[in-house]
Amino acid sequence: MVVCFFLFLNCEIFIMLKSMRIILTGATGLLGRPLMKELAAIPKSRLSGISRSRTGEDIVNIDLLDLPAAEEYLRKETPGVIIHLAAERRPDQFDRNPEASRRLNVDAVAAIARTARDIGAWMLYLSTDYVFDGSNPPYAPGDAPNPLNSYGQSKYEGELALWSATNRGAVLRVPLLYGPVEYPAESPVTALIETAKAGGEADDWQQRYPTFTPDLARVIRRMIEISRDDEFLTGTFHWSGNEVLTKYDMVRLIAEYLGQNTAEILPLRQAAGGAPRPHDTRLDCSALESRGCDRRTPFAEGLRAALESLGSLTEGP
Ligand SMILES: NC(=O)c1ccc[n+]([C@@H]2O[C@H](COP(=O)([O-])OP(=O)(O)OC[C@H]3O[C@@H](n4cnc5c(N)ncnc54)[C@H](OP(=O)(O)O)[C@@H]3O)[C@@H](O)[C@H]2O)c1
Repeated sequence: MVVCFFLFLNCEIFIMLKSMRIILTGATGLLGRPLMKELAAIPKSRLSGISRSRTGEDIVNIDLLDLPAAEEYLRKETPGVIIHLAAERRPDQFDRNPEASRRLNVDAVAAIARTARDIGAWMLYLSTDYVFDGSNPPYAPGDAPNPLNSYGQSKYEGELALWSATNRGAVLRVPLLYGPVEYPAESPVTALIETAKAGGEADDWQQRYPTFTPDLARVIRRMIEISRDDEFLTGTFHWSGNEVLTKYDMVRLIAEYLGQNTAEILPLRQAAGGAPRPHDTRLDCSALESRGCDRRTPFAEGLRAALESLGSLTEGP
């Protein structure tokens, strides 16, 4: 009897994934924009994005802090796939407004995961390398998290909230993201333009693995397609770029692109102020690599695309 029930449930989810209705939260953000483009190209699927206030094609505005409104929308639409990106992802901003940030990063995940379970959807939750303390890289998905700051703690609690509601889902941890932006501060990489132009100190202590958002969008599409066509992906996965740079390295590359004098840029060889950050959270990505995820745009090329997206803001002296 129990076996029949699980067979029925798996079959029902499989059918839902075959004719796919996909809902993506955080659809207007740094990762959400390229992901909307990538997912729109999946055959036999219908895609909608959720954002708080920015608008766009196939985007609906729902404040995810209004949990009943979010649940009502998902129950009405009954997607087979929910990709949950929306979060407060700036550690310092998180600390400035911890209550609302926690509601978004933990409570909203719990509510969406419960709804996903009730409607039989597969849910993918975007998490961060900041769940690790950075003292013993590389990190495999099963290694014990030990977040150093409140943002990392909240994302880890978001992971636990997912697992306490449903086992029909996946967590994808990624490090610092960069790609085409709408304004310089939108990504931690393009935020360095000011220092590249004016000179000053840049962190040379924290090892970073900048990950190009269009590449990550391709990985997420692959995860969805695997779940539709082959095995049903569950558990925790890692993905990241494979070039290691500090922010000091990145500022120098940006300065070179802008034709600025790199002698004015100075390395800061200890942890900078603000919310504590881990030293080196290199992620072991072998599980997704073995499933055919392999596109990693070289940093120099991705950086050029990110800077070009800002147009005249990145004109030289
Ligand atoms: N960026 C990184 O370097 C990085 C690194 C590791 C992990 N991550 C994870 O990757 C995911 C995506 O990050 P991102 O950089 O693309 O984020 P982002 O650029 O900050 O975009 C945030 C998105 O969430 C939406 N949102 C924010 N608050 C909301 C609310 N209360 N209700 C509804 N929607 C809301 C925003 O809508 P509006 O545009 O309308 O405000 C926007 O679409 C996050 O889960 C983050 O933790 C990011």
